[in-house]
Amino acid sequence: MRRLTDRHRGGRGRRTGRFAGAVAAALALTAGPLGAAGFAQQPPAGAQAKLDNPYEGARLYVNPDWSAKAAAEPGGDAVADEGTGVWLDRIAAIEGTRDAMGLREHLDAALQQAGGKPVVVQLVVYDLPGRDCAALASNGELGPEEIGRYKSDYINPIRDILRAYSSHPNLRVVTTIEPDSLPNLVTNVSGRPTSTPECDEMKRNGNYIEGVGYALAQLGAISNVYNYIDAGHHGWLGWDSNLQPAADVMYQAARAGGATPADVHGFIVNTANYSALKEKNFSVGDTVNGQPVRQSTWVDWNQYVDELGFAQGFRRAAVSAGFSSGIGMLIDTSRNGWGGPDRPTGPGPTTSVNAYVDGGRYDRRIHVGNWCNQAGAGLGERPRSSPASGIDAYVWMKPPGESDGSSTEIPNNEGKGFDRMCDPTYQGNARNNYNPSGALPNAPLSGTWFPAQFQQLLKNAYPPVS
Ligand code: BGC
Repeated sequence: MRRLTDRHRGGRGRRTGRFAGAVAAALALTAGPLGAAGFAQQPPAGAQAKLDNPYEGARLYVNPDWSAKAAAEPGGDAVADEGTGVWLDRIAAIEGTRDAMGLREHLDAALQQAGGKPVVVQLVVYDLPGRDCAALASNGELGPEEIGRYKSDYINPIRDILRAYSSHPNLRVVTTIEPDSLPNLVTNVSGRPTSTPECDEMKRNGNYIEGVGYALAQLGAISNVYNYIDAGHHGWLGWDSNLQPAADVMYQAARAGGATPADVHGFIVNTANYSALKEKNFSVGDTVNGQPVRQSTWVDWNQYVDELGFAQGFRRAAVSAGFSSGIGMLIDTSRNGWGGPDRPTGPGPTTSVNAYVDGGRYDRRIHVGNWCNQAGAGLGERPRSSPASGIDAYVWMKPPGESDGSSTEIPNNEGKGFDRMCDPTYQGNARNNYNPSGALPNAPLSGTWFPAQFQQLLKNAYPPVS
């Protein structure tokens, strides 16, 4: 995974508590063919109608693989029963490997956890050809031209398995569709100072658009599957020059590969990123001594300073692009807590815009474009449904404790490269305005367990973990 700014604005109880509500079962039975959100998808006879918000009234599936790793860390049992995303990050992940459960096993385990009540399984669909075109840490197994294999060997098998489970009345499957890919087509292509030849290639061959469209179409046709397309984060797409163009590219993808916009239930922001949920000590419209905070080094003319504002703004842009006004947003709050002793307790001094913003901001990254294993981060809001207007849920799509990338080169057979944004000694590139990477040292390959990171996340959790 990489997430970056286009810096020149183009820069112990199970889940029953917070998720189980009373109305879900009733809603599942009563939502008409248009659904509460106006999704014009006719369910096949006997299948569920799509719900406005699949998270409402359901518990979250707890991935036993992740949960065991979290519980084995000191203090980790306090969060080991949270629901986290299951990343289908290679073809082999569908059937499972010696160390990881396959998709069928996850679905069976979810039904067992559900005990006859609604449960949400959160999947991350992440294997596009030429994956992660502006970074190296999460390059994948498929080359830029392998769209045929993406469809036949990756999406089709996932579709077939999900279809086989679609008649379970209590099972809801949320998919995060292809993190980082469409945002890269906006900010990291020719004409931008942050372009890469790899992203130019993916724009030229159209395989991100075609692949996302195909995934949306095949999975969206299943009655209990809810597609949310990844929409970057505020420090990537928050600038005017990026926001509407990104929503437009998503609309284009939603009409490619056999998809229609009705296959899109919504969008997810901040996937595997660290951007704060809500900066309470300053807002984008503030001025200091007559100077707008937008001109501070940290904000750098962005229109958004946090993920809640960005999610709501992106939702509006998506509706302007042509998506249904019923779409909902998810925010990945797995690692954006920024608590601990260094968390500011009030606004910064009003001596300058920089002093004010830097003294008050919760997000303590060196630069908002830093994305790998960030030092100082903490677990964010625990997952919950309908937390704010337009937001379907706060989710932990990135499983806390799994690395974003290795800090030195590690040979592997997953196609993953070594990205120096994960090296704590690196001094940066155009995408983080030549700042130090802010990454933790001694990190393993992306996706593998990183105990020191998990322990830091626990220690700096906000809200704190009791
Ligand atoms: C990695 C995936 C991993 C995911 C979740 C990504 O950065 O590339 O392999 O499954 O993170 O940890």
